[in-house]
Amino acid sequence: MFRSLLVLVLSLCLVTTLVHGSNDNERKEYIVYMGALQGAGTSAMVDHHNLLLTAIGDEDIARESKIYTYRKSFNGFVARLLPHEVQSLLAEKRVVSVFPNTVRKLHTTRTWDFLGMSETLSRANAQRESDIIVGLLDSGIWAEAPSFNDTGYGPVPIKWRGKCVDFPGCNRKVVGAKYFNLNQTYTDQDTPSPVDDDGHGTHTSSTVAGVFVKDASLYGLGTGTARGGVPSARIAMYKVCWVNGCSDKDVLAAFDEAIADGVDLISASMGGPSRSFFEDPIAIGSFHAMTKGILTSCSAGNDGPDTSTVQNVAPWIMTVAASGTDRQYRTVATLGSGEHFSGISINTFSPQKMMYPLTSGALAVNVSEPYGNASACDFGTLDKNKVIGKIVYCLGSNGQDYSIKRSGGAGAIMTLEDVTDTAYSTVIPGTSIFPRDSKMIEQYINSTKNPQAVIQKSITINVSAPFVASFSSRGPQNINLNILKPDISAPGIDILAAYSKLPTTTGFPSDDRHTVFNIISGTSMACPHASAAAVYVKSIHPDWSPAAVKSALMTTATPMKIIDADAELGSGSGQINPTQAVNPGLIYDISTSDYISFLCKEGNNNTVIGLIVGGTENIDCTKFKPAQGTDGLNYPTMHTQLDSNSTSISATFYRTVTNVGYATSVYTSKVTSPRGLLVKVIPETLKFSKLNENQSFTVEVKGSLEPFGSKLLSALLEWSDSKYNVKNHIVILRPLAD
Ligand SMILES: *[C@@H]1O[C@H](CO)[C@@H](O)[C@H](O)[C@H]1NC(C)=O
Ligand SMILES: *[C@@H]1O[C@H](CO)[C@@H](O)[C@H](O)[C@H]1NC(C)=O
Ligand SMILES: *[C@@H]1O[C@H](CO)[C@@H](O)[C@H](O)[C@H]1NC(C)=O
Ligand SMILES: *[C@@H]1O[C@H](CO)[C@@H](O)[C@H](O)[C@H]1NC(C)=O
Ligand SMILES: *[C@@H]1O[C@H](CO)[C@@H](O)[C@H](O)[C@H]1NC(C)=O
Ligand SMILES: *[C@@H]1O[C@H](CO)[C@@H](O)[C@H](O)[C@H]1NC(C)=O
Ligand SMILES: *[C@@H]1O[C@H](CO)[C@@H](O)[C@H](O)[C@H]1NC(C)=O
Ligand SMILES: *[C@@H]1O[C@H](CO)[C@@H](O)[C@H](O)[C@H]1NC(C)=O
Ligand SMILES: *[C@@H]1O[C@H](CO)[C@@H](O)[C@H](O)[C@H]1NC(C)=O
Repeated sequence: MFRSLLVLVLSLCLVTTLVHGSNDNERKEYIVYMGALQGAGTSAMVDHHNLLLTAIGDEDIARESKIYTYRKSFNGFVARLLPHEVQSLLAEKRVVSVFPNTVRKLHTTRTWDFLGMSETLSRANAQRESDIIVGLLDSGIWAEAPSFNDTGYGPVPIKWRGKCVDFPGCNRKVVGAKYFNLNQTYTDQDTPSPVDDDGHGTHTSSTVAGVFVKDASLYGLGTGTARGGVPSARIAMYKVCWVNGCSDKDVLAAFDEAIADGVDLISASMGGPSRSFFEDPIAIGSFHAMTKGILTSCSAGNDGPDTSTVQNVAPWIMTVAASGTDRQYRTVATLGSGEHFSGISINTFSPQKMMYPLTSGALAVNVSEPYGNASACDFGTLDKNKVIGKIVYCLGSNGQDYSIKRSGGAGAIMTLEDVTDTAYSTVIPGTSIFPRDSKMIEQYINSTKNPQAVIQKSITINVSAPFVASFSSRGPQNINLNILKPDISAPGIDILAAYSKLPTTTGFPSDDRHTVFNIISGTSMACPHASAAAVYVKSIHPDWSPAAVKSALMTTATPMKIIDADAELGSGSGQINPTQAVNPGLIYDISTSDYISFLCKEGNNNTVIGLIVGGTENIDCTKFKPAQGTDGLNYPTMHTQLDSNSTSISATFYRTVTNVGYATSVYTSKVTSPRGLLVKVIPETLKFSKLNENQSFTVEVKGSLEPFGSKLLSALLEWSDSKYNVKNHIVILRPLAD
């Protein structure tokens, strides 16, 4: 329970809601989304008021119910509404959607070497990199962290229109800091400023663009030079996540401002259950960002390994899964008998004695406390007198260290229910041993009058990598059945990066450690790695569109192994390979009008299209080239989900690639496909005679399946010339019927 809470909190994901109950007389907060900006910002205020007045009917109530106006980058407002007022606004021609304000949560170094970006990587592009400003939507920033030292930075790029609000910490590295809490719902632990009370935003920011910091570590763990993927880039923090989560209205306000401020990329390590694109603040915000050439990179969520859990699935978002690196933290427990057990945890404590008395939760039960499970060391079940000064062995691994600390224990040996890949910091000396070892520890405790044990400080071991993190959310998505999500993977397990000194290391109030670096896990940590890789590509190819940058990262990614599910549903195209991504050879580009064609094909009507394009009433789907084929988008992967009883596969994908390799080049296609799947590429060869030339091809996928059950067939299409290899994954899925 506790641990999963921890991953969630450290991880940004949608939690329901400020809106529950069904009192028809109670006003609730809604976001009224009206598409692109129409005309000047001030007229929007009047317009919104008139709309509200029509719906509500009373001048004063209409004025009081309005909470906020979006008018910098798109059009809309937040108001407290009754159900019939929602209906009346929905009937307005100028309104795209009206949806309840819900609350999202945060999804929670060596990684750059692991990804092939060494410290000595030539940074011929450092100047252009330093012109790039990355906007993060997160929990704020602790700008005093050494990772944000601006020594040696040139002036802030002149294009920058952002600023720092109620925040003295800005410098030439952290160039913007704003905070959004639209109806001022602060708790005691929230600081009303961009300062990071949580640590999460400081961690993600430094992963993208932290400067080099020598000898960074968490009490000696993970020692090395810490740095972000693009250490020259600048950071703008938009604090939208508070103790109670990240509110839709605040997230949307941050997008509205960040786009107008002039950020070059948006990194949002947060999310929630998927909703249709125009009722999802991250999908809406990132859509308008995309129309301005800004890529939004988001975490996929921490609800794996279950399938159909992926979040942030709009096709204009880069959806990032978490993978593991070759470094794993291990913590050894040694028993009085001399036996050693290697468990998983991040234990910063060195033992003060050779041995400690050992007991088990079952033997230390507080008999006057009838509730709870003492074998699992549940909170409050242990007798302080039987625990004080001892290491306690417990069934389960979900926060026992915390309850044992509360009872005065000296350490915790916890037991994992499954083999895991992710280590968590313990608040006292602690380790989580593998299920196979639990019997032996119990036998030892039973075998002697004075059982003893000691828990060593953690060490790191080398494991084979990359692999998909067990917690990383898996596809398929359920909003658009023809777009594969997640898109890509990046390291998200046990990541060392800068931290805020305001929270404790574990976040538990009883912890007394406050550290400038911390090791945490989540797709929240993966997202900023991919964001940095995108900035790196963008710094070398400033004219590339968001889709082109994403395509370059996807078609050059390293396909990944996965144990518990079919690979692409966990990792998308695979692990990012930033140095390769700057030379992809070919790119699958997508323009705003291509996305509009896609949305038309998806059944969005002319009214909606007119509004989000922001033109006059004359703009409708007939003005755009019809989207062709099964998915209707020039996506770097090809995917379709069959309905539950289908036994035959028949899909057609139309693609256009742009030559960004050698002017004169010939690419030949190669398909690797499983039995039962026939993939035909027409034509099989693409000839280019100049740079930026486009060539189109068609992929026909046919096959037959046995009836019943879930089925996934995946193939790989590769376009190769002498130098480049452009990978495009093809995934056909028949999910289990519900
Ligand atoms: C920033 O870095 C410079 C150069 O390494 C160093 O002299 C200075 O003390 C640092 N500033 C802070 C606030 O750590
Ligand atoms: C803030 O939002 C809550 C939940 O919607 C609402 O009950 C409350 O009245 C709002 N407070 C202010 C100051 O607007
Ligand atoms: C792990 O082993 C591989 C292969 O021997 C090596 O390249 C890598 O640097 C090692 N990683 C660590 C963390 O030592
Ligand atoms: C106590 O928790 C452990 C670990 O979750 C479980 O195996 C055991 O069955 C539980 N015992 C009781 C009495 O519920
Ligand atoms: C045992 O549990 C009771 C009831 O929760 C509590 O009041 C008491 O302090 C506990 N005793 C010890 C020794 O931990
Ligand atoms: C250890 O002793 C307890 C209590 O007598 C018993 O329930 C348990 O099964 C024993 N464990 C092993 C592994 O022998
Ligand atoms: C367009 O869709 C909206 C929302 O689904 C609906 O209210 C409206 O009536 C539709 N308009 C037309 C012209 O079909
Ligand atoms: C699939 O087949 C089952 C059993 O024949 C039937 O009940 C179900 O409605 C079918 N589902 C679809 C989507 O056609
Ligand atoms: C190639 O396609 C892209 C994306 O659709 C488009 O922006 C570009 O203008 C095209 N290039 C040429 C040379 O036609």
